[in-house]
Amino acid sequence: MDSVTGENLVKYYKNFKALDSVSFTIQEGECFGFLGANGAGKTTLMNMIYGFISPTSGRIQIFDKELNKKTLPEIKRIIGVVPQDNNLDPDLSVIENLLVYARYFDIKRKEALKRAEELLNFVDLYKWKQTNIRKLSGGMKRKLTFIRGLINDPEILILDEPTTGLDPRSRRQIWDRIEMLKHSGKTIILTTHYMEEAEKLCDKIAIMGKGKILVIDTPQNLSIQFSGNLEKVYLNMTED
Ligand SMILES: Nc1ncnc2c1ncn2[C@@H]1O[C@H](COP(=O)(O)OP(=O)(O)OP(=O)(O)O)[C@@H](O)[C@H]1O
Ligand SMILES: [Mg+2]
Repeated sequence: MDSVTGENLVKYYKNFKALDSVSFTIQEGECFGFLGANGAGKTTLMNMIYGFISPTSGRIQIFDKELNKKTLPEIKRIIGVVPQDNNLDPDLSVIENLLVYARYFDIKRKEALKRAEELLNFVDLYKWKQTNIRKLSGGMKRKLTFIRGLINDPEILILDEPTTGLDPRSRRQIWDRIEMLKHSGKTIILTTHYMEEAEKLCDKIAIMGKGKILVIDTPQNLSIQFSGNLEKVYLNMTED
């Protein structure tokens, strides 16, 4: 079953075309990665898929529903988002950040607490649960933003550079979690600048350049052209 489909998506910021007729289909249970240079349009696209910004033209389909004002509330319930910039509430503690977020999904406090504690344990943040956000390191904030995106047990997870700024062990924790989610049939959409991450996690990769999708294929098929080196493919494809 198709999970997320984009059709001829265009986004203008004033006169600047940030997305230029982007089309793709992501299957349910697939991990789909968007790669591309800084400014290629990845975050613009991620923000569009969860309805945070609307396309200038084109359409997005999530399972059997077209994304629009009317369907957005319903669609938001099944999507988890980890934005590129951690937008945690600096006035709240670690645990309250998770519990307040869970309220947007009408998750009962007891259930929310159970999920939050399991997730905090998973990323080794449990002992920080009463700590104020301002006292966390950059990587800790990143891990907290990641688990916050899982609090509603989403069917579709949008991860905009999930592991940027993480130490190698933390990165592996996040990778393990993404693989667990994949195995339980969730759809994962991610952006990354790490070729190793893309190769390890993604079933399919789209390489973007200047608002366009240049190619969509499996990491294996892509890297075959360059003796198994995905980075070489990326550098070649994104050359000016
Ligand atoms: N709100 C905005 N107003 C005007 N221009 C914007 C806005 N958001 C993004 N842009 C522009 O759109 C283009 C795509 O930006 P976007 O953030 O989607 O890139 P990206 O692929 O996520 O880059 P990075 O890898 O650095 O995160 C860039 O040229 C950026 O300057
Ligand atoms: Mg970005």
